[in-house]
Amino acid sequence: VVPAAGRGERLGAPGPKAFADLAGRPLVAYGLAAAAASGAVEAAVVVADLGPAEAALARLGADLRRLVRAVVPGGATRRESVRAGLAAVRQAVGAAADPVVLVHDAARPLAPPALFARVAEAVGAGAAAVLCARPSPDTVKQIAGDLVTATLPRDVLALAQTPQGARLSLLERAHREWPSGDAGDDALLVEALGETVRVVAGTPFNFKITSAEDLALAEAWVRSGGTPWMGPPA
Ligand code: CTP
Ligand code: MG
Repeated sequence: VVPAAGRGERLGAPGPKAFADLAGRPLVAYGLAAAAASGAVEAAVVVADLGPAEAALARLGADLRRLVRAVVPGGATRRESVRAGLAAVRQAVGAAADPVVLVHDAARPLAPPALFARVAEAVGAGAAAVLCARPSPDTVKQIAGDLVTATLPRDVLALAQTPQGARLSLLERAHREWPSGDAGDDALLVEALGETVRVVAGTPFNFKITSAEDLALAEAWVRSGGTPWMGPPA
């Protein structure tokens, strides 16, 4: 499930962030290509405004177009968008199936294929849900305004990324039972059920494109050959 329905207000590009240009391709294409290259993903649901999504997907190669089984409109929050994506997965697989579902933000284009495989493999191996994360390279301060109130111990902190994965039925229940309001990520909804969530190693390259600076950094990385799974430049 690829949440791609955000407006990208902090990026400030003319259209939705997920379809912003990154080295000649729409942002959303990168995660789809990495998922396909991982060998761990059979099909994808993109959650996005249908107009821009269809236009962007039409430009993808035939393999990626085949991977995308459905494009469904999102909601006002990321959580609602993921929920819409899960409903599309359920519709595609039928009532009895319970596949492992990975949720991966379109806004993280540099996630390598191995990460999808790592998360998918870890689901069910001692944990109900799995996310990738990296240690914080910086010391983390708790603040109130511009005053420091505490220094948090780095060894108990991890910076959460996507993909995040769990069985479809668990994600459905986690979304159904979440009280209301947005949630930072899907793992939080599973944590709220009291289920075990495991962390596997993410990578610093898997940063989220939030601002124009992030897009410029990603562009430099892609142009220097950092995303070999994308094939030759578009
Ligand atoms: N997302 C979504 N539906 C929403 C909000 C966010 O599918 N209603 C998706 C975004 O498209 C993105 C991911 O969730 O792939 C992470 O969200 P974020 O980085 O916050 O993206 P935006 O919400 O688009 O950006 P901003 O918050 O700056 O508007
Ligand atoms: Mg947002």
